[in-house]
Amino acid sequence: MNAPLRLPDLENKAFDPFTVERQYHGTHPDPYPLLHELRARGPVHEGAYRLLFTDVRDVMCDKENYLVLGYDACQEVLTRPEVFTNYGAFRYTIGRSFGHTVTVMDAPEHPKYRRIFQKAFLPQVVTKWGQRVVEPVINDLIGAFASRGEADLIEDFTHHYPFQVIYRQLRLEPDQAPIFHRLAIAQSLGAIGAPEGPEASGKLGAFFEALIEKLRADPKDDLVSHLATVEADGERLPNDVLISFLRQLMNAGGDTTYRGTSVLLTGLLTHPDQLAAVAADRRLIPQAIEEALRWEGPVASTWRYVSEDAEIQGTPVPKGAILNVVLGSANRDPAKFENPDAFDIFRDRSVRNLAFASGPHVCIGQHLARVEMTRALNAIIDRLPNLRLHASRPGPDIRGHLLRVPDHLFVEFDAV
Ligand code: HEM
Repeated sequence: MNAPLRLPDLENKAFDPFTVERQYHGTHPDPYPLLHELRARGPVHEGAYRLLFTDVRDVMCDKENYLVLGYDACQEVLTRPEVFTNYGAFRYTIGRSFGHTVTVMDAPEHPKYRRIFQKAFLPQVVTKWGQRVVEPVINDLIGAFASRGEADLIEDFTHHYPFQVIYRQLRLEPDQAPIFHRLAIAQSLGAIGAPEGPEASGKLGAFFEALIEKLRADPKDDLVSHLATVEADGERLPNDVLISFLRQLMNAGGDTTYRGTSVLLTGLLTHPDQLAAVAADRRLIPQAIEEALRWEGPVASTWRYVSEDAEIQGTPVPKGAILNVVLGSANRDPAKFENPDAFDIFRDRSVRNLAFASGPHVCIGQHLARVEMTRALNAIIDRLPNLRLHASRPGPDIRGHLLRVPDHLFVEFDAV
């Protein structure tokens, strides 16, 4: 019963999910000029977001797709869940890779389960994670390169820390972490036809099922024990709902935070005056984080299903269509954000950005993401004095149309 759980790797050891994932999310350098051009013609158009930027099709491309590009139009879709629903859109993608998780649910099922999960991610709960789990992970990673005087902040840091936070919550053996990361990334790739997608989902599912059974018998003070034993109205979370949520967590909680932190550091390092301002006054960190999320939010688009003939800001959309709700376009809508392409932590913040979406499915992990990004930025400023872009290595290049990130962020600093 106490033997650590083992996770089997993919059969095809040569399969590189990270390369295939890059194909899936694209390598487009800059989707914004085209988004500005289309949005200027109207907030809603026929078309699929990914086909604007890549010819790598996914399972959604054969449907009737509409692009929702304006801020008000995106906000309207996200806050009318009775018409613009989730199941009809996500059953083909997240539903296949993760299973019966909250993103694939509509009311009345969605609020029933969301209420239970949400309690584990309240600000007061995740602040404690910050001290107990996030801080040691960050210190270990930075400690490995702080004396070098140079680093690639993506490869040495951001690509690891949010995943390691999750591994510690799952009590994963250190040698299992690379396998877990490969499976977590591979599980979404079924949407573009990779057979490793369903294989990875199956292997993660079996692992979580065994973990839940083990922690129900002997609960610890961690997230999975809490979710495995929590009761609402006298009922426990059904296994399929909990397992699907845990599958989703790696991507929803790990991959997004890695990208969000990478973009935050990129924004600041390419605007050294703003980095200096934040270093001098840490009260600016929350607005730097919000600006990074607005400027290059890690989730460029989400989807909804039109459950009855409807209108969005005066444009008709037919029942059965899939809406591509382009959060990245909403966040650069000049009607809401002045000079929207500029990274400016001092901009007016009276309009909330949509990086975490809006409405009943708004990101459950947003408080944790902010805690993780805050701790990461503070530690980097504290432990890497005189931090700057590397003078003789290429500058950061944010790529992708769906989940955007630079591959490298080469920096120099005074070694300590
Ligand atoms: C910078 C980091 C993050 C970003 C940009 C982000 C973005 C988003 C967005 C846009 C959605 C809504 C999708 C939709 O409505 O269609 C979402 C939902 C969700 N996020 Fe995050 N997320 C981040 C971090 C996290 C973290 C750290 C966790 C958990 C540990 C998490 C867990 C979830 C879950 C479970 C949902 C589904 C909620 C529901 O459908 O009710 N996310 N996230």
